[in-house]
Amino acid sequence: MPIILISLLLALGLTGPAAAGPLDGPGAPQALVCSACHGFAGQSQSNTMPILAGMAPWYFKKSIQDYAAGKRTSPEMEPYAKQVLQFGVDDMAAYFAGQKRTASPVKLDSAAVERGRAAAVQCTLCHGVSGKGDPAKGVPDLTGQPPGYLRHQMLLFKADRRSPGDAQLKVIKALMLTIPDEQLADLAQYWSSVR
Ligand code: HEC
Ligand code: HEC
Repeated sequence: MPIILISLLLALGLTGPAAAGPLDGPGAPQALVCSACHGFAGQSQSNTMPILAGMAPWYFKKSIQDYAAGKRTSPEMEPYAKQVLQFGVDDMAAYFAGQKRTASPVKLDSAAVERGRAAAVQCTLCHGVSGKGDPAKGVPDLTGQPPGYLRHQMLLFKADRRSPGDAQLKVIKALMLTIPDEQLADLAQYWSSVR
């Protein structure tokens, strides 16, 4: 290649690696198996399946470890979580964290969102006013997740069925017990609506 062309390409930054796309990166081939439930590149289209795109790596890893250990019980996730640990959880965490997150396409009920907004103050102590969570406290991002998924997880906390007996989750579970199920649905709608 003539030297002038090489310098031109270097100047334009065209010789370096291309920006990461949904099929690039070390975790990409392994992530295809997750698409069946979590959507292509972790962008779930379903009301019940969580979005993995843009997930913080620390929370991705914790979830995978909890499922694989049978602590966070899920017959659907346990075998895949064990697979992820074999594939390399860091690569897969980095892959999903690198995917651009688009909020769930599930249609929301604006009256429920408004009711949920009023009740959501009690969540902000841990999840923050933005709902984006706090890695230092082990608190995940709720925003834009499908409302059906959020509601289901709240019901699991309420019944002590998500990581039963986990001392770190005592406060959130005690809080869920004070909230009627209809209000849990409103809260799910609200946090799903937050961008
Ligand atoms: C058969 C469907 C299915 C497949 C395939 C699947 N998952 Fe899941 N996944 C689920 C379900 C259902 C849940 C919610 C389970 C629960 O109630 O905790 C979930 C939850 C998760 C969570 C927790 C999300 C959160 O917000 O806490 C992570 C992380 C995850 N899956 C990663 C993966 C990865 C990575 C793969 C591919 C290796 C994968 N899943 C494949 C069904 C699936
Ligand atoms: C005392 C702190 C605390 C408070 C208050 C709290 N949470 Fe959480 N929440 C957590 C922690 C910690 C987790 C992660 C649990 C885990 O690692 O399994 C979590 C996880 C969740 C999840 C699961 C997210 C996912 O991706 O699976 C939902 C849904 C949730 N919280 C909703 C709420 C709502 C709604 C409120 C307010 C009514 C609330 N939380 C108040 C600490 C809190």
